[in-house]
Order: sequence, then structure tokens, then C-alpha cells
Amino acid sequence: MTARTSDIDIGKAADVLRAGGLVALPTETVYGLGANAEDPTALARIFQVKGRPPTHPLIVHISGADHLDDWAEDVPAAARLLAEHFWPGPLTLVLRRGHRVPLEATGGLRTVAVRVPGHPVALTLLKTFGGGVAAPSANRFGSVSPTTADHVRAELGDGVDFVLDGGPCGVGVESTIVDVTGDVPSILRPGGATREDLEAVLGHPLAVPSTSRVRVPGQHPSHYAPRARVVLVEPENLVAEAEREQELGHQVGVFLPPSLADSPVKAHAQVTIPTSMGAYAHGLYGFLRELDQQGCDLIVAPLPAEEGLGLAIANRLRRAAGPRPSETRSR
Ligand code: TXA
Ligand code: MG
Repeated sequence: MTARTSDIDIGKAADVLRAGGLVALPTETVYGLGANAEDPTALARIFQVKGRPPTHPLIVHISGADHLDDWAEDVPAAARLLAEHFWPGPLTLVLRRGHRVPLEATGGLRTVAVRVPGHPVALTLLKTFGGGVAAPSANRFGSVSPTTADHVRAELGDGVDFVLDGGPCGVGVESTIVDVTGDVPSILRPGGATREDLEAVLGHPLAVPSTSRVRVPGQHPSHYAPRARVVLVEPENLVAEAEREQELGHQVGVFLPPSLADSPVKAHAQVTIPTSMGAYAHGLYGFLRELDQQGCDLIVAPLPAEEGLGLAIANRLRRAAGPRPSETRSR
């Protein structure tokens, strides 16, 4: 399959799923923490291992659009069109829940999120297993999603029964979630499939709710967050702000725009933002983890233009900079 994962490993992973265990699986977006989507006991373990509230719904991964009607009801034409163009790939569709989906997978909602992942290891696992795999990102609730098998092992350790190593994830940010249950499809979370590409296929604009609106129970404003606090600044203020915080005694990590790559900042650590948005998305979570590992307590970053993959990157940076759960409680 890949240099790291053989068909034997995939067979073992399918057996673990059948036995009610948890498998970390590579997808083209981020690593998922997978369980048999029809096994409420296994689903309960996902929430326990992640430390995630049970009201927070999961994505059901399936092997192809031909299985969509097993998991969802009244699938609208727009959903079929999007599935045809974007699957396998980084798009999740929110549909009316089918009878096969236990309420534990959807946090009690009447809708279900479904996607066909684009990673060959994930697809082979889904075909070998034969059913649906419910999988959130394989990180502790609220923290940065894993884009390598090592990230998963470091974060979840023995909580996972089997880790399939498919190498670093190509896209690097999660799937785009589109709700197709309303009159106009709307983007619930920007991600690897761009708004522009989705709108080109649909032939009309999508509704895009603001980042701050919380639609689904259990979501905190802060998510996708490293340990270090994240501060977003206008690009022209970046260097001055980073150096000011460093002088105030912080261990500052800087996301440096490519134009400033050769002018080092007086800060604790820095990463240079790649020129292409695809490379930026691919590296984003690794950069946040790297600055955490280097001991930064504050990360200063500029926001990218919110077009193409920049929409998803800006969304994750905003969420990383949002108030942390402990701060939310005191508000
Ligand atoms: O790329 C991805 O989507 C990755 C890989 C593993 O597939 N998965 C992922 O799952 O990001 P998770 O659980 O970390 O994020 C899923 C998001 C959550 O924010 C959840 O609220 C939303 O999907 N979601 C799931 N079911 C939903 C539903 N029925 N209605 C609205 N939102 C839903
Ligand atoms: Mg997640």
C-alpha cells in the first residue's frame, strides 16, 4: 500500500474495528480516530479517549458514494452532485440521518456527517472492513489535529488499539463541511475543498456562517489550539508585536511571511510561512506543534487572505486564537 502500511496491517485494522476497537487511520486531511460506526460501545470509547463531550457529532467515513443511501435519507440532488465531483476527497456532507446510524454517532442530532476520504489506505480499510467508520480527528478535544502517525502516538498513546501509518497527510487541514439539509447548501467549516471549487460545481454561492457562530453543541470558540497562546496581527505589525511581546518576557514564536524570511526577528523561535497556500495548509498543524515543542508560550501570526485554502487556514488560526475553555467559563 505505502512504504509504511501493508495489506496485512489493513487486514489487522479491519479486525480491530470488527472487535469493537479503535484504529487511528490516515486520511488525506488529518489522521482520524476510527471505530465501527454501528457499535455504540466503540463510539463511547472514542469520546472517552479524546476527552470530547458525547453531544459532539462524529463524521461517518464510507468507501464510496454508492453507499450514501445506507447512511442518509432524502439525499438532495446538490449532495449527489458534490459527492460526484469531490469524493473521494476532503468534503463532508451533512444530510438527514439514515436508520443505520446510531444516535451516539451524531450526538443525538437528526442529521449525519458523511465523507469518502481520498487516502488510499483509508479507502482500502473501508472496503476491507465493509461498514462505516466513525472518526473524529485523532487528537485530544480542542487541540491541534494530527497530520502524522507520530503525532497520534504522542497524543493518544495507549488509548488507540492500532495505528495505521500512511505517512504525512497531504492536505493538512480537515475536510470542508457542507450542510445540504437546508434550502441553500452552507459551509459549516471551511477546509480542504475550497469554497470557490464547490461554488463552481454547484453554479451558485454557498452560505458561509461566521466563525464565531456555534451551531453544534459541545463546540468551544477555541479549537485546533496549541499549548501556546495565539495572537493574530496585521502583517505590517507582525515584527514589532513579536519583539514587543518577547521584551515583555514571553517566549515568542513567529509565523514569518515568506517576504521576511531573510530578516530574523528578535523572538524565541520562528517558522517561515510557505509561499503556496497548499504547502501552508499541509504544514500548518506541524508548525503549531513545532513552536509548542520549542517552548514558546505565545505565537504571533498574520492572517492569510481568505480565499482558496486561505479560508480554512484563517479559520483554524482564528479558532486557535479564540478564548480557551477555562477563559470561556469565567466569562
Ligand atoms: O477531515 C476531517 O473531516 C477529519 C478526518 C478524520 O476525516 N475529521 C474531523 O472530524 O475533522 P472532527 O470530529 O474532528 O470534526 C468533525 C466536525 C465537528 O466540528 C462536528 O461538530 C461536525 O463535524 N459535525 C459532525 N456531524 C455533524 C452534523 N450532523 N451536523 C453538523 N456538524 C456536524
Ligand atoms: Mg477535530
